[in-house]
Formats: sequence, structure tokens, C-alpha cells
Amino acid sequence: MGATATGTAGAVLGLIGHTPLMELTRLERGPCRLFVKLENQNPTGSIKDRVGLSMIEAAERAGRLRPHSDPPCTIIEATAGNTGLGLALVAAQKGYRLLLVIPDKMAQEKILHLRALGAQIRLTRSDVPRGHPEHYQQLAARLAAEMPGSYYVDQFANPANPLAHETGTGPEIWEQCGHDLDAIVVGVGSGGTLTGLSRYFARVAPNVEMVLADPCGSILADVVESGESLTPAGSWLVEGIGEDFVPPACDLSRVRRAYRIPDAESFQSARELLVREGILGGSSSGTLLAAALRYCREQSAPRRVVTLVPDSGNKYLNKMYNDYWLFDQGLIERPRQGNLLDLIVRRYQEGGAVTLSPQDSLMLAYRRMRLFDVSQIPVMQGDRVVGIVDESDLLMHLHADPARLSDPVSTAMVSTLETIAPDAPVAALLPIFQRGHVAIVAEHGRFVGLITRVDLINYLRKQRG
Ligand SMILES: Cc1ncc(COP(=O)(O)O)c(C=O)c1O
Repeated sequence: MGATATGTAGAVLGLIGHTPLMELTRLERGPCRLFVKLENQNPTGSIKDRVGLSMIEAAERAGRLRPHSDPPCTIIEATAGNTGLGLALVAAQKGYRLLLVIPDKMAQEKILHLRALGAQIRLTRSDVPRGHPEHYQQLAARLAAEMPGSYYVDQFANPANPLAHETGTGPEIWEQCGHDLDAIVVGVGSGGTLTGLSRYFARVAPNVEMVLADPCGSILADVVESGESLTPAGSWLVEGIGEDFVPPACDLSRVRRAYRIPDAESFQSARELLVREGILGGSSSGTLLAAALRYCREQSAPRRVVTLVPDSGNKYLNKMYNDYWLFDQGLIERPRQGNLLDLIVRRYQEGGAVTLSPQDSLMLAYRRMRLFDVSQIPVMQGDRVVGIVDESDLLMHLHADPARLSDPVSTAMVSTLETIAPDAPVAALLPIFQRGHVAIVAEHGRFVGLITRVDLINYLRKQRG
């Protein structure tokens, strides 16, 4: 991180690693003591800052990259997010251009963070198998081959990835545990963490057990238990861990125990980590914690166990920390009513509906549409809906005179309403949608909630199982 001819990397790179280890004391851990290594406290909020730095500095040592050169050297990587952030941080500090190829299922917040750090993003399909030309790893390799002088990081096969954990994360854990540790529970994305920790502990404390936390749908738990994948890979919502192949950087040979964790349990565990222990971890933190808790509770003798909080939950506030998202994914069950209530995501009686009063300004209507990401809002007088205002009502009202944004909602809302009773059949929604309306569900004149086309699509998707 020293000075170069044309620039100096900032002090932030010195903040990578050296993360705290915290004991969990409020979750049921059987006879064991359980500690978490807070990798969410790295500068970009994840464990991947360590490998971003390690892989770039290894390439510099090998003469493949020169910091602050003119024109700048280009680094290319295929990444589902966190490695990209680690690379982007280091690239910005060291004057590199960074091009990241990212599958299109990643949290929007990660992409915004990457762009803000100056990375160039190429989105590609997330629904194609490895080997397909549009798979993110294939595409990154091809772009690197077409761009002379660029450096393809390839974290899945880059030896500096496990090395960061062998020389950093591992020794830190060993020190922080006072050289007294029985098991480490980790997840696998590229396998860098697992391989690096395995190598380090094989040397200093070979009795430390390596335990795999794997999302249901990933093939790695099968490989640990039977040496091969028994069923084709499925899909999972947890981000950053789980694979449909064993990456070249992933050495599973020291893992004897693996836990398969369903998404619902991962999300539930991450939320308990926040509520009970005060740590805002990402989705994979939930997977690792769930596996670590299962492991601890199965023990008959006290053991000292470490797991990781690989990234921060900030990026997932709109996903697993959002009850409506969990509901859309079918991961929160609400008591079934057997009627249209089952399709209403934000129920008025539960305080979930976004509403306006007729006296509110159209500016407020517009702000609420943006804030809650809805295109229409019911207008209420007491418990009754007296109108509805949508984006096109706003536009029609304003287009001649934008000052009319201060007019009351009552001047732009539609007040001839089509309501539907909660016990109407689902099929009765279709003609309403065909007329381009949303369904306003009301019972004895009282507003219950709205149903949109997307709500019906989600409902049908969940029926499919
Ligand atoms: C979000 C996230 N990214 C990456 C990793 C680890 O990945 P790798 O196997 O690439 O070291 C983890 C591990 O738990 C993770 O939770």
C-alpha cells in the first residue's frame, strides 16, 4: 500500500481485516460457546475486502498490474457482488479500471454501491447454466481474452483468494480464541474462506473441525457426505454461498460435517441475530448461524465454535428484513383465510396499507408512490375509500401546470370506484384488471386492501409450489 510514482493508496486499505470476534450469548447454543467473526465490519461491509486486496496485490507482485499507470490497467472479474465491492475499493485506491460481470439477480443496492465506487458493470443472465456463453463467468473470461493487457481475477481459481484467509482470517481467529477452538462453521462461494482456513488450521490445530453450512439446493453438502453430487442443483435465495459445482479454489477434504439450511431458516436466523444479539448480518450470515446453532445443540460435551458474519445486512433490508418481500417469496405464512384476503399484501386493518386523505397534496401522493414503490394509492375518509389516485391521474392533472402539484388529492382522484368483496372468487379479479384497474377490496363499505396484477401473479406462483 505504499506510494507509487503517480499516486498513493489511502489509509482505508489498512482497515481491511482485523475484525472483532464476538461471543453470542442470547441464542440457545446447547453446551457450547459460539463466537462470530464480524466480517461485516470490513470497509465495504464484507469478508471479500480481504481477497480483493490479496488478489490485486498478488497480481502486482507477479507484474500483471501496475498501480496508477497511465492509461490505467483494467481488472475484470465475474462476481455476484461482494468480491466486486472489495475489488472496487482496492481498484479505486490504486488507480485501476474495474469491469465487473454480474448476474441479473443481485441486490440492486450492491450494484449501486459498485457503480458509486467507480466500477463499470456488465449485467448478464442469471438463468443460464455454467458453460453458456452468457453465464457470468464465461462472459468475463471472454471479455478478458478480447482485451489485451487486462487482468482476469478469477477468484474461483485464484490462489491469492484462499491465501488471504490462510494468512489473515485464520491467524486472527486463532489469536482471538486464545488458541482454544474446536470447530469453525463456514459457507462456500468460491471456496476461498474454507480452503484458506482449512490449510491454516491443518497446520496449527489439526483437531479443529471444519463444518460446512450450505443452502438447500447447493450440491456441496452432497459432495461432503458422499463425494459426489447426488441430485442436480436447485435454486436458493441466500446470496454469496452455495454452488452447482466444486470450484477449483475449494478444498472440501477437511470437512466431515455439512448442514443443509433452507432459505426460510437462514432468514429467520439472520433476523434473530439482529433482534437477540444486535448484529445486522447478510443472508448468508443466517445460513452460517443456523448451521452453527444446529451443530452446537447436537453436542453432548462443551465445545468452542466460531462462525462468520460474512457481510452486512444493509444490502438486504429490502429483501429478507422486509416482511412483505418474505411474504411474496412464500417464506412467511399468514393464517389462510381462503378468500381474497390471502392476496392482499398490505392489509389496511394491520396498518400495512399506504393511503392518503382527500386534503393531502398531490406532491405527498407522488412522494408516497415513490417511497413505497406503488403506482396507485387509495384515498380514505375514515375507514371508507372515497377515491383512488394513480400515476396517470397525477400526470393528467399536472401536465398543463406543474404548480398543480400543490392541489389537494381530491381534485385529481377518481371517485367512481369498483369495489369487490373479500369472499368474491379469484376469477372476479380478471375483468377488473382487464379494464386496467386495481381491485379495491371492501367489506360492508370498509376498506380492506388493494390487489394488483402483480399480487395475483405472486399468488398464482406460490400455488405452483
Ligand atoms: C456473502 C458471502 N460471500 C462470500 C462468502 C465466502 O465465499 P468464498 O467461499 O468465496 O470465500 C461467504 C461465506 O460465507 C458469504 O457469506
